[in-house]
Amino acid sequence: MSKYEVAVVGVGAVGEEMLRVLSEHNFPASNIRVLARSERTISVDGRTYQVQATTPEAFDGVDVALFAGTEGEKGAAVTFGEEAVRRGAVVIDNGADFRMRADVPLVVPEVNGEALRNHKGIIANPNCSTAQLVMALKPLHDFGKLTRVLVSTYQAVSGAGSGGVAELKAQTKALAAGEPIAPPSTFSTQIAANVIPQIGGFDDLGYTSEEMKLVHETHKILGDSTIQITPMITARVPVVLGHSEAVYVETERPISTYEARRLWGDFPGVVVLDEIHGKNVAQAYPTPLQAAGSDMTFIGRIRQDVSRPNGLVFWVVSDNLRKGAASNAVQIAEKLVELDLLRR
Ligand SMILES: NC(=O)c1ccc[n+]([C@@H]2O[C@H](COP(=O)([O-])OP(=O)(O)OC[C@H]3O[C@@H](n4cnc5c(N)ncnc54)[C@H](OP(=O)(O)O)[C@@H]3O)[C@@H](O)[C@H]2O)c1
Repeated sequence: MSKYEVAVVGVGAVGEEMLRVLSEHNFPASNIRVLARSERTISVDGRTYQVQATTPEAFDGVDVALFAGTEGEKGAAVTFGEEAVRRGAVVIDNGADFRMRADVPLVVPEVNGEALRNHKGIIANPNCSTAQLVMALKPLHDFGKLTRVLVSTYQAVSGAGSGGVAELKAQTKALAAGEPIAPPSTFSTQIAANVIPQIGGFDDLGYTSEEMKLVHETHKILGDSTIQITPMITARVPVVLGHSEAVYVETERPISTYEARRLWGDFPGVVVLDEIHGKNVAQAYPTPLQAAGSDMTFIGRIRQDVSRPNGLVFWVVSDNLRKGAASNAVQIAEKLVELDLLRR
């Protein structure tokens, strides 16, 4: 079996998880170069990695580069993405910088893996909240053609990187000790014992960037911009790991709850946990704690709409650092290997 030279750029919340997933999945790596802003040694699950500073030359000889750096003008992907491609690497980027570019496939392998065949060097991973949403929507769309989607999200602080986790932990500790809470630096206001109905900046209509990502990225991944998608709210909740979503869909062809369970049951990467009348609480519905550490997307609380025909309501939970970021990126790399789209 061929082995590939891998680079992981960024060792924050997502980058660290990427190293974990590459190892767990036994990705056929001949070597893993770990790059960030500054040199140091890190340890992930007892394995030591030497972190190098990211430079253009660091991508020489790399076959696949998994980017998990910060976004934007001075971010890792904008600074080094095209350069890595010029030097022969296929780039898989976790940030938002390339997602909506027409020449960049935006991929969730179970949903639109075939789009990888059109890649020109850069491939984008969707936003964490989009990844789990399209996992739930794809089989419904294929069966009944979605006409309308309403979604509200309840997102973990790790979605804001390692700084978000540190802030929740520090505030929770101060609250428990009855000490004053330091002014927030990652979030707009206190996150401990709170819910913040804002993720990203606001546009002219009052939607946040996170809300509009759900619309545009879902259209691109499902290849259908006729679906009417309303992002009701994307909220930050005091949960460390795992995003949850309340979703309402309408379809052209009615889908019963029985049919929906069958469709999700047959779909790779999805697990239905919906035994509300059973004795086993773990099977009743998914929670973020339950999803943490798993690559799967969990669906529960499946109901027929009580007020409109052809409507279905459900709850989707997934580990935002896994399916929402690192695992999806590694799955893209695995699919590239499967499709023979990486150089040898
Ligand atoms: N967290 C999530 O749930 C999630 C989900 C989907 C997508 N994403 C995206 O994934 C990316 C990483 O997120 P994160 O949560 O892991 O962020 P993070 O915890 O803040 O970590 C950022 C990492 O990027 C490195 N970095 C920043 N600028 C760089 C540059 N110019 N060159 C090289 N390395 C650079 C940093 O290096 P140093 O350590 O040396 O400072 C750090 O290791 C972001 O684009 C984010 O939007 C995150």
